[in-house]
Amino acid sequence: MAAITPKLSDELPSTIVSPTSSVTLRISKFNPKTDSSSSIEEFKVPVQKWTTVLDVILSVKQHLDPSIAVRYSCRQASCGSCGMKINGKPALACYTKISELNSSVITVEPMNNFPILRDLAVDFTQFFSTHKKVRPYIIRDDSEISEETKELLQTPKEVEEYLQFSYCIKCGLCNSACPTMATDSSFIGPQALAQAYRYVADNRDAGKKDRLKIIDDSHGIWRCHFAGSCSQVCPKGVDPAMGIQLLRGYLLGFRK
Ligand code: SF4
Ligand code: FES
Repeated sequence: MAAITPKLSDELPSTIVSPTSSVTLRISKFNPKTDSSSSIEEFKVPVQKWTTVLDVILSVKQHLDPSIAVRYSCRQASCGSCGMKINGKPALACYTKISELNSSVITVEPMNNFPILRDLAVDFTQFFSTHKKVRPYIIRDDSEISEETKELLQTPKEVEEYLQFSYCIKCGLCNSACPTMATDSSFIGPQALAQAYRYVADNRDAGKKDRLKIIDDSHGIWRCHFAGSCSQVCPKGVDPAMGIQLLRGYLLGFRK
């Protein structure tokens, strides 16, 4: 096991100087071009109470193994890049503090239900193509917009209908937690369904009929078994499971 020694504090990022404890970080390594299966590399890393999982991965990458493949950008739970399995559960690495894991051993692996590009980085090609399929934008004829204001005003109640669904950062955690996605790679998935609901429920949008037609499929909305794991892992408070039930309401004629 390789270790970062606390004495190196001058060289370490500010997030891990003056360590109060240390953890064992176990990182899944896999290159589909050269490896037949994944392996685990272990590192001893000093941490403070506010150190995040992304902090320790980047410290190891900087000081001990520059070959580690990990995707990140904002480091503040906004861009949706750093999703991975942390001690078996899908989570954002930049939004997960080591201290809240209550474990001295942290295992990080790539998200389930995505092809692995290398190590912790997964391929989002199908994810974004499915997202695009539900037409995630307002569809309407521009001539309907008032020439005077150029605005489409909504009441707070009308905004409430879809607001939480608009917080999606496309991190993929919901799809990675979904047991249906694990058995049916053609399933449209909770993220795309939640986004379909976001626009169907927006009273400025005129694309409801088209979108409902797209999701009304055996690999679409009817494939969901309502496990609810998508909603449990969402870091932004989106509730895809509820969105799916509400969409079914439109298709079954309970909602207009
Ligand atoms: S619904 Fe939540 S978990 Fe799913 S992609 Fe959007 S932000 Fe991530
Ligand atoms: S780095 Fe952007 S969400 Fe974690």
